[in-house]
Amino acid sequence: MSGLLAGKRLLVTGVITDQSIAFSVAKIAQEQGATVVLTGFGRLSLVERIAKRLPQPAPVIELDVTSTEHLEALADKVREHVDGLDGVVHSIGFAPASCLGGGFLDTPWEDVATAVHVSTYSLKSLTVACLPLMAPGSGVVGLTFDATKAWPVYDWMGVAKAGLESTSRYLARYLGPKGIRVNLVAAGPLRTMAAKSIPGFEKFEDAWTERAPLGWNLTDQEPAARACLALLSDWFPATTGEIVHVDGGFHALGV
Ligand SMILES: NC(=O)c1ccc[n+]([C@@H]2O[C@H](COP(=O)([O-])OP(=O)(O)OC[C@H]3O[C@@H](n4cnc5c(N)ncnc54)[C@H](O)[C@@H]3O)[C@@H](O)[C@H]2O)c1
Repeated sequence: MSGLLAGKRLLVTGVITDQSIAFSVAKIAQEQGATVVLTGFGRLSLVERIAKRLPQPAPVIELDVTSTEHLEALADKVREHVDGLDGVVHSIGFAPASCLGGGFLDTPWEDVATAVHVSTYSLKSLTVACLPLMAPGSGVVGLTFDATKAWPVYDWMGVAKAGLESTSRYLARYLGPKGIRVNLVAAGPLRTMAAKSIPGFEKFEDAWTERAPLGWNLTDQEPAARACLALLSDWFPATTGEIVHVDGGFHALGV
């Protein structure tokens, strides 16, 4: 077997369509020699159908990251397919409609709590659920949208992402002594199902298209996926608690 990830065993969450960032991650991982196990949320038969479009068949395990039962059963279910994990990809986000689109001042706590549970706390829950399968040298990667700024319409999802970025740093602190790395990729806007549910998302699309110094392709998930996999490869052995921007350079500029 050859490739950047030859012999690596990866758990990839977050595939729902073939536009999902996680789908690109799974596809390129297989092309680079990895064995991939997927998790799917809710619409399992849909995820299984999408999984058939990968270069090789990949098993799908049901996982709702807010379900303690699912999280407790996860390691054993993964063991039915692989004997350990070298990498875990967290590609999960959700916020109720009231959290996005400009109603920031009126969003009720219950909705914010849901956004934070699914999009922020789940990085910790997923990682801890996978720990029994992970050895020194393994890693976790998640996806953020640069949370150092207050964006238009992103609202409470931006707050959830700020929490995700902090959670990643704390996980890096607590898991470093076990030799486990935890990093994030800050992707620019991509037209996925999650993005389409954000009213006013075109504001990001226009800004990136006009301003990213390298240019930005809103329908190409591959650069973000490649960065996730590079971070899980053996080529970032001393990097943890990091956020790698894959945004065409947008973050580096002022106005
Ligand atoms: N699309 C973008 O512009 C963009 C930019 C930066 C970061 N991101 C992040 O990338 C990640 C993947 O999103 P995407 O853009 O590929 O969209 P997507 O809609 O394809 O993926 C989101 C995934 O989250 C899963 N999910 C939602 N609730 C869940 C739950 N309770 N348990 C388990 N899984 C659950 C969905 O099933 C779906 O597979 C998210 O964290 C998102 O915030 C996206």
